[in-house]
Amino acid sequence: MRHAARVCLLVLSVFVTWCAFPPHWGNPTAKAQDVGGGQKGETKVPDVIFVPTPQEVVDKMLELAEVKEGDVVYDLGCGDGRIPVTAAKKYGVKAVGFDVDPQRIKESNANVEKNGVGKLVTIRQEDIFKQDLSKANVVTLYLLPSLNVKLMPQLRKLKPGSRIVSHSFDMRGAKPKQVVQVQSKEGGEHSVYLWVVPWEEEQETQ
Ligand SMILES: C[S@@+](CC[C@H](N)C(=O)[O-])C[C@H]1O[C@@H](n2cnc3c(N)ncnc32)[C@H](O)[C@@H]1O
Repeated sequence: MRHAARVCLLVLSVFVTWCAFPPHWGNPTAKAQDVGGGQKGETKVPDVIFVPTPQEVVDKMLELAEVKEGDVVYDLGCGDGRIPVTAAKKYGVKAVGFDVDPQRIKESNANVEKNGVGKLVTIRQEDIFKQDLSKANVVTLYLLPSLNVKLMPQLRKLKPGSRIVSHSFDMRGAKPKQVVQVQSKEGGEHSVYLWVVPWEEEQETQ
């Protein structure tokens, strides 16, 4: 009787674990999460919600970064993957998108598939603050001013000449090389900031 109870308990616990952490069989996101190093399939509450960059602004960000053959573009917090997909489609470069939200990873992978850029784009479910960015020479951001500042220790380690572009937000303490305004189709005005590594330090004003 005691044995039967133990077996029941074991079966129940296997069932509960299976429900809580279902395997990725047949899940299209599993393949992309397996690409590359670092923590895989990391889940964490996003530090900022998903708001997509309008396509005209994406185009300007990549133009301002002067993306060229051989570049590797990292989008930190990739949302639906529009920046890495555009980089691959327009410039034929390798691109990696990082996000911690499983829904965004799903959308990004669908976007990659829809645009046939799976050979160039990798989507990783990983925390941007735990990444070694040394393989990138273009980094794109659409986060928050405080998150840009938090990324500075990682961004400082980029190879000299690497470009960082940020939609809407500056990076306190780093003087941008250029700031441009872009008009979106919806009528909004968007700032895009460019820094080239090593960036010029900016005196803080109170
Ligand atoms: C404002 S959206 C920008 C999306 C995309 N880059 C674009 O410009 O359209 C910010 C994205 O960052 C992701 N995110 C927030 N915190 C993150 C973190 N610590 N690591 C990885 N991604 C994160 C969110 O899930 C969201 O998709």
